[in-house]
Amino acid sequence: MTHILAIDQGTTSSRAILFDRDMQPVRSAQQEFRQHYPASGWVEHDPEEIWQTVRDTCRDAAGEIRVAAIGITNQRETTLVWDRATGKPVCNAIVWQDRRTAEICARLKADGHEALVTERTGLLLDPYFSATKLAWILDKMDGARARAEAGELAFGTVDTFLIWRLTGGARHVTDATNAARTMLYDIKSGAWDEDICDLLNIPMSLLPEVLDCAADYGTTDLLGGQVPIMGVAGDQQAATIGQACFTPGMMKSTYGTGCFALLNTGDEPVASSNRLLTTIAYQFGGKTTYALEGSIFIAGAAVQWLRDGLGIINDAAQTGELAASADPEQEVILVPAFTGLGAPYWDADCRGAVFGLTRGSGPKEFARAALESVGFQTRDLLDAMQADMGVQAKTVLRVDGGMAASDWTMQFLADITGAPVDRPTVLETTALGAAWLAGMQAGIYPDQNGFAQRWALDKRFEVGMNAATRDRRYAAWQDAVGRTLSRP
Ligand code: G3P
Repeated sequence: MTHILAIDQGTTSSRAILFDRDMQPVRSAQQEFRQHYPASGWVEHDPEEIWQTVRDTCRDAAGEIRVAAIGITNQRETTLVWDRATGKPVCNAIVWQDRRTAEICARLKADGHEALVTERTGLLLDPYFSATKLAWILDKMDGARARAEAGELAFGTVDTFLIWRLTGGARHVTDATNAARTMLYDIKSGAWDEDICDLLNIPMSLLPEVLDCAADYGTTDLLGGQVPIMGVAGDQQAATIGQACFTPGMMKSTYGTGCFALLNTGDEPVASSNRLLTTIAYQFGGKTTYALEGSIFIAGAAVQWLRDGLGIINDAAQTGELAASADPEQEVILVPAFTGLGAPYWDADCRGAVFGLTRGSGPKEFARAALESVGFQTRDLLDAMQADMGVQAKTVLRVDGGMAASDWTMQFLADITGAPVDRPTVLETTALGAAWLAGMQAGIYPDQNGFAQRWALDKRFEVGMNAATRDRRYAAWQDAVGRTLSRP
């Protein structure tokens, strides 16, 4: 048995990818599931649908192959609460994009609690993270608080819920990277934080045990026999691992629904003065490596909007070609604040805007504006990272995720950030990261150094835009964002 199965439970679909002994993806299965929008700014998933799609895709991808170990990577922060006796969720999962707790966050901020939260968790007081979503469930779901206090309920991010189901309720566990996104976990001491739990009135008995990213997470009979689960990491951290960003100063940016850039900062957490997050990159053998993270909520989702909202493309792959043929004289700017803006603005209340429209603006210009918005937002993050780290020279950015396949988008990214962009041969970086964790723990895959040496470049995008144009275009973006924010 030398195959490893990676489960990648994402925001819009569940995937299972089978990797062979050489860490090559050999078979995969994918199922999309429904997004529920019960109110403005609310986003929910049906936990049973998450489970069914994971179960079915795992069986499809594995087929007759006997799997040596399973690695799990997942959409982070998304919050679930279920009954320990029946495994039944008390309500739908509240998705990371959901803004329903914006008011709770604003109140906590006004009461002066943000400094403590940031000091302990590395995060900002924002509805993005699990903590206020969990508090909301306990407050609003009938009887939930009493059941939680009686020890009847369990909380988890998606990894924890899946492991609970996969092991038939035998394990209530998470890994350090997912714990770091709850806003309840002290990333320096490596323990759940009593003060924050008190502040939000969250009984600590709800919380899972926290393990290393490569560890014993129990076994499952899902594929016949007993297959061990040996690796877990939140999807952005799994991508950081899959990109082999193991040295301080190395950075990756993943373009999925959103875009998440992580910069490895080594053994010590770096506090951001520029509204980035301090987070755990990975934890091996009890040793924690930290990262600075910039989180953008809309990247690929802007292209989805072109397709599903505006109906100007049929397929995401058309966007680059359309953008390339846009009128170069027009400089339409899209600020895709569809669910507010993430780093470095953290404005939950602003909404999207388009600037610079003329009578000649059409689908081509919208396509270009959507792709450029991804580059502009990444530049915001890289500038904030540089300001935090005090580095003048821009480092190379390793990219992955669906949009990284678009040459046009990656070239603009290099142009507007003024830094080279490296695209690896394997774009399945997130799944690869999860597979490597499990395969390494199982003794099948190479160690950290051996894995890093296997990283291979597909294409480097060099900076092609001159500095004056770059400065002018970026200033126009900053001006557009300034006019979009809900508060100046
Ligand atoms: O923090 C949210 C992130 O983990 C979601 O990633 O790839 O599902 O958009 P993705």
